[in-house]
Amino acid sequence: MKMPSEPHTVAMTTLPDEAAGAGVHAGARAGQQSPEQSGTASQQLAVFDPADPFDAGSTFDPEATFDAGLEKRFSLAAQPAAGLEAENISAWFGERKVLDRVSLSMPAGTVTALIGPSGCGKSTFLRILNRMHEMVPSASLAGEVLLDGQDIYDPQQRITAARRNIGMVFQKANPFPAMSIYENTVAGLKLAGLKASRAEKDFLVEDSLRKASLWDEVKDRLHQPGGGLSGGQRQRLCIARSLAVSPRVLLMDEPCSALDPTSTRRVEETIESLRGEVTIVIVTHNMQQAARVSDTCAFFLAAQNTPGVIVEHGDTNAMFSDPRDQRTNDYVNGRFG
Ligand SMILES: Nc1ncnc2c1ncn2[C@@H]1O[C@H](COP(=O)(O)OP(=O)(O)O)[C@@H](O)[C@H]1O
Ligand SMILES: [Mg+2]
Repeated sequence: MKMPSEPHTVAMTTLPDEAAGAGVHAGARAGQQSPEQSGTASQQLAVFDPADPFDAGSTFDPEATFDAGLEKRFSLAAQPAAGLEAENISAWFGERKVLDRVSLSMPAGTVTALIGPSGCGKSTFLRILNRMHEMVPSASLAGEVLLDGQDIYDPQQRITAARRNIGMVFQKANPFPAMSIYENTVAGLKLAGLKASRAEKDFLVEDSLRKASLWDEVKDRLHQPGGGLSGGQRQRLCIARSLAVSPRVLLMDEPCSALDPTSTRRVEETIESLRGEVTIVIVTHNMQQAARVSDTCAFFLAAQNTPGVIVEHGDTNAMFSDPRDQRTNDYVNGRFG
């Protein structure tokens, strides 16, 4: 294991003494922030990548009609799954430390389930994996998140790139209610700085909705509002929206906890079909779901008044059938949590 690295202090607050004692220093990078990092959300969204084939700066024909090259163009732009490494992640809200030096390897194309009782830091950990934790005013963190070996918190790295590469789906599905199903599906393109013609969008809408197991249910009403869908359909629409920008990693925070069994099954089918194409990290309180969908599993726990840690992680089958730690055994067998 590596020594704790410099903290990625984003908030204006000072890190607690405890953090300084652990070898990290508040504000170590405060003076080194790129303009992008210190900019407003709208400034961040205005940053485009000229190397990206969909970017505003690239040659692009808005009048292009569907042709055989289109799928190729999109599959070229589609990115392969990437491995994600979290190294010594600690997190604070104000003075309160909620995660303590959590390290986890999430290999490319696999499904990792994060399990553990409420309040042990699973959502915080997930938000750190795509730079959303720093949106909370009092939040700070230390450690590294490596996407195929590259630190997403490196000041040279764009926050927009991290968000495009590492998509996220939440417990509460939040499509734009008045926006059509079609427009909801491609809503992420603009935010990611990707530009697509009408024909390209048509292609992406069908492709993404198919991947999210929603196409058959909505193909005849693509231009009706997203708000008119059932809860389960809305969740799959949000998954389609995430997939439309071709993320390399997809984070899912209890995506099925508000869904009926049929929608839950569809979401699980989607996860199954994405295996290998996208790296998936899913928080779930449903042990059967963790056992069904994941290759590896990490059990988080926070003892009273202490920050969350990973008690055990490894092959899902082994963790469920023969856990090494008694606390894991008790949790997966429903004795607490
Ligand atoms: N925005 C926030 N401000 C302050 N404390 C928070 C915030 N979000 C979460 N916490 C606290 O951080 C700890 C971890 O929360 P969370 O990551 O949501 O856990 P989990 O997802 O495992 O239920 C909890 O004690 C929670 O109360
Ligand atoms: Mg949570």
